Amino acid sequence: MKGANIYRMKGRHLSVTLLVLTFTTIFLWAWEKNPFVTTMQSAQEQFNIHTSDFVIYTPKSSSSDYLTPNEHVEETDSESTRSEESQVPEKEFDASNFTNSFVPHMEDSGSDRTLSSKIKDCNYSKGRWVAESQRPLYSGFECKQWLSEMWACRLTQRTDFSFEGYRWQPENCKMPEFEKSAFLRRMQDKTIAFIGDSLGRQQFQSLMCMATGGEWRADVEDVGREYGLVKHRGAIRPDGWAYRFSNTNTTILYYWSASLADLEPLNSTDKATDVAMHLDRAPAFMRRFLHRFDVLVLNTGHHWNRGKITANRWVMYVNGKPLRDKQLMAIGNAKNFTVHSVARWLDSQLPSHPRLKAFFRTISPRHFRNGDWNTGGNCDNTTPLTGGSEISQDESSDPVIAAAVKGTNITLLDITALSELRDEGHISRYSVKATTGVNDCLHWCLPGIPDTWNELLAAQV
Ligand SMILES: *[C@@H]1O[C@H](CO)[C@@H](O)[C@H](O)[C@H]1NC(C)=O
Ligand SMILES: *[C@@H]1O[C@H](CO)[C@@H](O)[C@H](O)[C@H]1NC(C)=O
Ligand SMILES: *[C@@H]1O[C@H](CO)[C@@H](O)[C@H](O)[C@H]1NC(C)=O
Ligand SMILES: *[C@@H]1O[C@H](CO)[C@@H](O)[C@H](O)[C@H]1NC(C)=O
Ligand SMILES: *[C@@H]1O[C@H](CO)[C@@H](O)[C@H](O)[C@H]1NC(C)=O
Ligand SMILES: *[C@@H]1O[C@H](CO)[C@@H](O)[C@H](O)[C@H]1NC(C)=O
Repeated sequence: MKGANIYRMKGRHLSVTLLVLTFTTIFLWAWEKNPFVTTMQSAQEQFNIHTSDFVIYTPKSSSSDYLTPNEHVEETDSESTRSEESQVPEKEFDASNFTNSFVPHMEDSGSDRTLSSKIKDCNYSKGRWVAESQRPLYSGFECKQWLSEMWACRLTQRTDFSFEGYRWQPENCKMPEFEKSAFLRRMQDKTIAFIGDSLGRQQFQSLMCMATGGEWRADVEDVGREYGLVKHRGAIRPDGWAYRFSNTNTTILYYWSASLADLEPLNSTDKATDVAMHLDRAPAFMRRFLHRFDVLVLNTGHHWNRGKITANRWVMYVNGKPLRDKQLMAIGNAKNFTVHSVARWLDSQLPSHPRLKAFFRTISPRHFRNGDWNTGGNCDNTTPLTGGSEISQDESSDPVIAAAVKGTNITLLDITALSELRDEGHISRYSVKATTGVNDCLHWCLPGIPDTWNELLAAQV
């Protein structure tokens, strides 16, 4: 009897201890997730709205005609980069043992000091992929208004969609769940611009689908004309697109600039002419419209290979003159030089554009295995996270972009390492029209990985 009592006592004591522990854990967890909510909000409120007049811009010459062949090149060769020129390290990332649990690491959340140092060390590119039932954020069947058919894997013969069911959990960052109406309200009267290659276009389409939840929106206005983004005679498509949500007066646009160098046809009346690629000059579109952007996201990478530069008839220029420096002309050096030039120029513009928040997105990794895009390479794996789920490295996997923004007020949108873990999320061998033997292990299925890039972007604007 006595023994039983003691046993019961012990049991009660144990359950009280457990209860206290559970509540402490929940409290600490909640606290860790939200301790500086107010700080974040007031920072958001400081992100003030300045107005600028909308000007109807009519390009003097049909600036996009000469881009047509480039776009064609971009379409047909799956954005390849030759491996020796690739900036993405081939190393595999550490696989780690993780459970699909939402409880963050608790080891050192016990004191104010560690907590504040954690917030300071918030690094959106460190963290892990976790299974999430609230993904995807829109349907690949439904977002027909903005999603290109070729990237809507739900419309292809693909049958596995497990890649859609994950979200990125940064290790030490407050990461609010993306909510479309809240996002658009925050972006009231603001313009978000993506400038870059087709991977930038994917991110743009992804954001359009996220902001609408993939639902048809008759009230979203095509305002491309305001930015000169119209389809010119003979062109396959315009140089970009711009849409405005009328309720919140939010504009989201994309401009095609694959190299982030300014392109200038050497003879504007001759379509077959070479194109000067000014490595030290930001694209004219960007210089012209910068004052109208509140958020700017740059990217480049996959067009920096000799094949594309030749096919596009790009001739490198520096200081307004054809480049003669053979060393600088080497692809890797030319890219580094251009990326540094555009970052330096943009940073120099920030003081006179106080409302602008500038991001440089790192390169999107490609996953051709057993060959390259033109030698039968594939990305047939359909099982998520076979190479691990966690990124804990401190340095970027795209050292070129990381170095270019270092010491500037441009924010690194570092998506390389986390996307590297998602080889199953590419278009792969599927397409709307069944073309066999062509694999796209560069572009991503949408919904998919670029949605996460936008979640990281939304968390930082
Ligand atoms: C994962 O767990 C296994 C066994 O539980 C262990 O041998 C291995 O070292 C762990 N790997 C990592 C990266 O922690
Ligand atoms: C929309 O926002 C822009 C600033 O981005 C501002 O100039 C314009 O006046 C706004 N339009 C309306 C109708 O509020
Ligand atoms: C530009 O191209 C046109 C048409 O081919 C040609 O007539 C003209 O001479 C060229 N101009 C120069 C400066 O090369
Ligand atoms: C890239 O360019 C910057 C600025 O011109 C230079 O300081 C840096 O050394 C270059 N990096 C590489 C890897 O060439
Ligand atoms: C965050 O991580 C990125 C890449 O992993 C690195 O470039 C950067 O220096 C890190 N920042 C901080 C504050 O640790
Ligand atoms: C970044 O912006 C802050 C505030 O505007 C300014 O004080 C600082 O000098 C800038 N840093 C650089 C590297 O431009």
